[in-house]
Amino acid sequence: MSPAPCFMFSKEVYVNRRRTLLGKMGETAAEGKRGIAVFIGNAEAPAQYKDNCYKWRQDSSWLYFWGLDEPMYAAVLDLDSGAETIFADDQEIDDIVWSGPLPSVKTLAAQVGVSGSAPYRELDNVVSKAFAQGRRVHFLPPSRYFNTLRLMTLTGWSPEEIGTVAPGDGRHASRELVEAVVSMRLIKEECEIEEIDKAGAIGQEMHTAGRNAVKVGILEQEIVGIMEGVTLSKGWGVSFPTILTQHGETLHNHLHDKVIEPGKLLVIDAGAESCSHYASDFTRTLPTGGKFTPRQRDVYQIVCDANEKAFALTRPGISYRDVHLAAVRVILEGLKGIGLVKGNLDDMVAEGIAGMFMPHGLGHNIGLDVHDMEDLGENLVGYDPGQTRSPQLGLGNLRMARVLRPGHFISDEPGIYFIPALIEKWKKEGLDKGFVDFGRLEGYYAFGGIRLEDDVLVTEDGARRTGPDRLPIQPDDVEAAMQ
Ligand code: GLY
Ligand code: MN
Repeated sequence: MSPAPCFMFSKEVYVNRRRTLLGKMGETAAEGKRGIAVFIGNAEAPAQYKDNCYKWRQDSSWLYFWGLDEPMYAAVLDLDSGAETIFADDQEIDDIVWSGPLPSVKTLAAQVGVSGSAPYRELDNVVSKAFAQGRRVHFLPPSRYFNTLRLMTLTGWSPEEIGTVAPGDGRHASRELVEAVVSMRLIKEECEIEEIDKAGAIGQEMHTAGRNAVKVGILEQEIVGIMEGVTLSKGWGVSFPTILTQHGETLHNHLHDKVIEPGKLLVIDAGAESCSHYASDFTRTLPTGGKFTPRQRDVYQIVCDANEKAFALTRPGISYRDVHLAAVRVILEGLKGIGLVKGNLDDMVAEGIAGMFMPHGLGHNIGLDVHDMEDLGENLVGYDPGQTRSPQLGLGNLRMARVLRPGHFISDEPGIYFIPALIEKWKKEGLDKGFVDFGRLEGYYAFGGIRLEDDVLVTEDGARRTGPDRLPIQPDDVEAAMQ
């Protein structure tokens, strides 16, 4: 696959999305009382000084509605008149000299079907005028500090107010806009599914290259470099900082400084961002020497069974909360089989005992962000109206609990981890309610962790995994692939 250095969908995709948004926002207030929706694209973010920035990445909701992958763009959608304006400055000679020529703002705006354009500073006047006329000003909670500062200047409100999502006319980000955007971005269009599949293909190639590079005696970092090279040459880069560690009991371990030792488990949780900025996210856990020990294999098989169970249940109409609980039940049943927990399975599930072994949820939404739209608020994105978030460790960390619908893209990522500090806490505080055999568990303090993750599309009548070739997951297949 050759990379596409610069990517946009057809103009109609963006025009249709904004039209749908206008329709949805039209239901939130009477005609003439709707106000304006302001979108702030990202600015460059200096790493040390102004001309040495972090790698450029546009805001995802901006990309979704306005497409243009350039810094210092903003837009206003007038929710009463339907007028659309993009605010940005045409290049100065210095920009052309240092960064290369670009078409005019007017030309770029036309590429996404927007006929109105104005200089960037004109946005301030448009927003001031809307406030002066008593119109509502809707915006999404920003994910970057620059965007918070811009919105503070535009509104005169505090950063806390700008970061808070609430309904009504108050001083905060617009719940109506968040809900409309979430309802659209949650259900992936065909053109988005194609792009997520491309990200899946690159992500799987990363993992295959990583698995082929595992060798006792090399540094973890060397494998990371090989994997990230794949997505840098075929896509935009990684969809999140790669997790590659022999200490997989630390869920998001970004240290890669250890030498690969024999007899360990190597958790590799990594994904690609395609040139169109869609994400993939896969996790595999490999035996460093190419063969699982019997004890590793026993625990591995439980996680593998939980992954398969979750996928088998994934279909429209079931809540992902229930899929999480079914996966957790497989985990507790397996742990009971090897003597680490004891007692009635239903009671253990109800009491949340699995949380000590899997202190995270089964999965999350995937799209333009690897945890799609979490900047807009985890509960608004991952929970249906009426669904409440559990206080239990594990279930309470579930980021996607909704009743599944065709077009949802989610991760299926159960795990089992032996985290000595967490085990000690549960033991000391009696949080296990007598279900855990702490004596036996002591033998697992150096075990590490196992996580197995696929990306799954909910279809009309079930589900399918993304990417062309599922990465080996059954223990025999993993061992065979490592020969
Ligand atoms: N792959 C990292 C995560 O899902 O949090
Ligand atoms: Mn994930």
